[in-house]
Amino acid sequence: MKQQLEKIRQEALDALGAVKSADELDALRVRFLGKKGELTGVLKMMGKLSAEERPVMGLVANNVRAAIEEQLEKTRASLKEKALEAKLRAEAVDVTIPGDPVRLGHRHPMNIALDEAKELFISMGFEILDGPEVELADYNFTRLNIAENHPSRDRSDTFYITDDEEVLLRTQTSPMQIRAMERIKNPPIRILAPGRVYRKDEVDATHSPMFHQIEGLVIDKGVTMADLKGTLETLIKAMYGEDSVIRFRPHHFPFTEPSCEVDVQCFKCRGAGCPTCKGEGWIELLGAGMVHPKVLAGCGIDPEIYSGFAFGIGLERMAMRRFQIGDLRMIFENDVRFLEQF
Ligand code: PHE
Repeated sequence: MKQQLEKIRQEALDALGAVKSADELDALRVRFLGKKGELTGVLKMMGKLSAEERPVMGLVANNVRAAIEEQLEKTRASLKEKALEAKLRAEAVDVTIPGDPVRLGHRHPMNIALDEAKELFISMGFEILDGPEVELADYNFTRLNIAENHPSRDRSDTFYITDDEEVLLRTQTSPMQIRAMERIKNPPIRILAPGRVYRKDEVDATHSPMFHQIEGLVIDKGVTMADLKGTLETLIKAMYGEDSVIRFRPHHFPFTEPSCEVDVQCFKCRGAGCPTCKGEGWIELLGAGMVHPKVLAGCGIDPEIYSGFAFGIGLERMAMRRFQIGDLRMIFENDVRFLEQF
């Protein structure tokens, strides 16, 4: 019996020495120490021993059990440690590896020009207003005194959203004049409303079916054309330099009376005429005028008491002039080799 016990001890210790997983370890515990295990099996035969032999064998059996238990615990602890080590190794972060460089972007030339304009107008007490690109024909045309048969309403010029031609992609930011008067109601009104506008134009060096305008509107008592001139001169000189030469030229818009277009002398040829200004010597910048009394009255503002001016600037043209960009398409193509230059 003693031999049997020693054999169990040896086998158990050998087996435990080769254990590789917690499952294996558990199987060995059951095999040697479990209720139906090998050691238990031998102990069950103790009853057959004589009274002298029994305590001796009991002692040996206890030693064997203790030895196996001790080794079990050791093995369990070392398995646990190995598992932890493996986990730490797998999760390790090498803080010495060089990081991926973050490529910092920057503002688009259009945004630079827009931000400059906004800042200037905010400094003059204007409020920046945002409005819908999907607009009602009522706001885009009718309430701006644009007649039912006006060519700009034509399907060949305007993107209509609904067949009844009541809803469209706004062709100008001027509907924001109406929205501003509706929203603010009581003059003084001083707003700047930048945003996208849409027209059915083919893409070329100076045209795009989507472009940007900045609408300005000022309404108060005693506002005159001189205020319009002073405001636009301030803008143009801030954008293009103090020495810019500006020209106000009579024009017609249904929603302003009188109306004008404002040109700046060509920065390339200084008025002599060149390809940039198409031989004109001048570059057209914006449309403007005194708000038509009919438009004021239509928005509930008494034209006998109040007057105002409005203007609409093409933002692309402003950015192109500001950064000397020759082709409108570059602004929208987003080639980083172009964009990185600003
Ligand atoms: N909305 C006009 C255009 O797109 C410009 C404009 C705005 C003219 C405000 C007068 C007053 O051409």
